[in-house]
Amino acid sequence: MTLLVDDYIAARADVKAYLDSALLDAMNASSRESELYDEVKNKLLASGARLIAHYYVDPDIQRLAEETGGIVSDSLEMARFGAEDPASKLIVAGVSFMGETAKILSPEKRVFMPTLEATCSLDIGCPDQAFQQFCDSHPDRTVVVYANTSAAVKARADWVVTSSIAVDIVDALAARGESLIWAPDRYLGRYIQKQTGADMLLWDSACVVHEEFRLHDLDALMAIHPDAGLLVHPESPDEMIERADAVGSTTQLIEAAARLPHSSFIVATDRGIFYKMQQQVPDKLLLEAPTRGAGGTCQSCAHCPWMAMNRLSGINRILDFWDPACEILIDAELGRQALKPLTRMLEFKLTGTV
Ligand code: 13P
Ligand code: SF4
Repeated sequence: MTLLVDDYIAARADVKAYLDSALLDAMNASSRESELYDEVKNKLLASGARLIAHYYVDPDIQRLAEETGGIVSDSLEMARFGAEDPASKLIVAGVSFMGETAKILSPEKRVFMPTLEATCSLDIGCPDQAFQQFCDSHPDRTVVVYANTSAAVKARADWVVTSSIAVDIVDALAARGESLIWAPDRYLGRYIQKQTGADMLLWDSACVVHEEFRLHDLDALMAIHPDAGLLVHPESPDEMIERADAVGSTTQLIEAAARLPHSSFIVATDRGIFYKMQQQVPDKLLLEAPTRGAGGTCQSCAHCPWMAMNRLSGINRILDFWDPACEILIDAELGRQALKPLTRMLEFKLTGTV
């Protein structure tokens, strides 16, 4: 069963407006950003702060994290690393839910992001008030939410999951007879449902990047590269997932590129992943999966406009004066509530049991 909320439709209009301005900012950004690299690296090393980056951010920022003792990873590993690293200051290069997760898991640490404006269409598409009402009208269901949500939505949940662990956790919950609410990504929800057979009520939201991947254009590309494997992030439309040779989180897709025998891959996720994926498979050909492009509504095709807002200059500004406008702050009680389902996820990662 699918729930379509008016709030979500309204939020989609906001997303499109936001994408316009985010893209404009990115286009206007100085091409001299890379020249900041050495300066920022030296400041970061001297600061003792740790940089935690997602695969979708600028390759310079990914390299900076690698070369300074930080990490480049999927959202689950970003959360785990941030919680376990002893640094008292974390700089999270990604989108707001990733910075918020780091802060919720480590309230004693100071957590900064190059911009707090870097949000996510899934987070926008799941307003906490509407979500609370939805949950309240199904009180007998266990509430499982994707990590790509606000702290308030997490605080209402029994479980938080990322794409790398969602199937395993839902499988375990279904095995002990629980019926679930899932939010917000409908494609990931349907994928989990098919994999596990769980009884799930799905929220109806989507990622503006992944939902633009299209089977029709994929067929045209496959005709040119008939032996290519297909790697698909589960936020993509069902027909893409059904055709995939591997479906998984960003880290799992990189692992699949190394594990599978194909010498070329078509990759249906944000193109930022090519930096680390190509490192792992230097001899393999990596191709971007086609999106609707100019023929559709997509204004962010294969690159998340909010991830693109992470700039070296933003990290430089943090290191210069720990700009309060870039610091994540979370209400203490809200943080305590949201910590419970996040901790369950990390414990499941260690023990494999719910
Ligand atoms: P991963 O957890 O797979 O890195 O996904 C995060 C995300 O936002 C994908 O769009
Ligand atoms: Fe959100 Fe999609 Fe961007 Fe990931 S790629 S952060 S799901 S908008």
